[in-house]
Amino acid sequence: MIAAVAGAGESRKQMEAKRVAVLQGGRSLERGVSLRSGAQVQDALQRLGHDTVTIDAGSELVAKLRAAGPDAVFVAMHGGDGEDGTVQELLEAVGVPYTGSGPAACVQSSDKVLAKHLMRAAEIPTPDFHAFSEASFKELGGAATLRDVGDRLGFPLVVKPARQGSALGVKFARSADEVPSALVAAFSYDRNVLVERYVKGRDLAVSVLDAATASDDEMESPPTPLPVVEAVPRDEDFYDFESRYEIGRTTFVCPAELPEGVTERAQELALETYRLLGCHGVARVDLMLDEGSGELAVLETNVVPGLTATSLLPQAADAASIGFDELVGRILDSAFTR
Ligand SMILES: Nc1ncnc2c1ncn2[C@@H]1O[C@H](COP(=O)(O)OP(=O)(O)O)[C@@H](O)[C@H]1O
Ligand SMILES: [Mg+2]
Repeated sequence: MIAAVAGAGESRKQMEAKRVAVLQGGRSLERGVSLRSGAQVQDALQRLGHDTVTIDAGSELVAKLRAAGPDAVFVAMHGGDGEDGTVQELLEAVGVPYTGSGPAACVQSSDKVLAKHLMRAAEIPTPDFHAFSEASFKELGGAATLRDVGDRLGFPLVVKPARQGSALGVKFARSADEVPSALVAAFSYDRNVLVERYVKGRDLAVSVLDAATASDDEMESPPTPLPVVEAVPRDEDFYDFESRYEIGRTTFVCPAELPEGVTERAQELALETYRLLGCHGVARVDLMLDEGSGELAVLETNVVPGLTATSLLPQAADAASIGFDELVGRILDSAFTR
């Protein structure tokens, strides 16, 4: 049986119907979003003619996977185990193809400290930063450096946990007085935190999608950046966890209306970052456009971008005339092109 690919372009071959396990949920703070992504993905896969089974990630994961015996796993778990390589390592151990990035890219992307060091070394612009582990404060007197760090990065500055998503634990410190409480908040999420230069400007995201399909006879087509999405917060100067998911609190504009050359540059940086981190299938790169200098800076890369109705990746795909089902079909392809 051949599965239909709705809206697929001429160059896309139709994929045979597969048995796909949609992996969702888990224990991360983004569990709720993941369940919504998973439900959307499951519907799309079924419309594409695939046979699906949903698995809520937990202690029975391996047993459930073995019982389901899928041809591929569609990873729809955001944050935590789903993005930091834990699940990907497990799927490698089980020996089942899965969508998206492999363990190395997940480890490097989900850890903002690691990713920023790699970007800095590769000369991909990212806001200046200092990273601290819990030990540097608790055991090595690191707090004494905070004044210098504040002087160097300027105020306000941004404090964030190394590994977390959805703006959880991301705090602004407007002055030196606010740094300690921001650090405490960030350390409640991770043992490593970043103190980062604040970029006043526009909040952009560029998703990158692998164009190659498993059944392509032609040469593999390169990963392609999608149109830029701008997140415009309604009234706050910063959009937090709640405003990101509550419909109406953030407006998304896609394609973002940007000064000349900025779209191309943002797409180029997203692609460079995607390649640097070794991503596969799909990823979403978050950037800031500095309203003063007009320069772009990469904040971070999400290896399992949201796939809910209001998520940025589906919006970007839509602006590139890639419907939701085709998007899901393409991501599924990535399981077979690793
Ligand atoms: N250095 C920064 N300057 C200005 N805004 C920032 C900065 N870092 C983060 N933000 C804001 O916080 C949001 C979340 O930060 P991000 O680094 O993407 O982490 P995550 O999305 O994983 O929580 C960004 O989309 C942006 O709005
Ligand atoms: Mg982000």
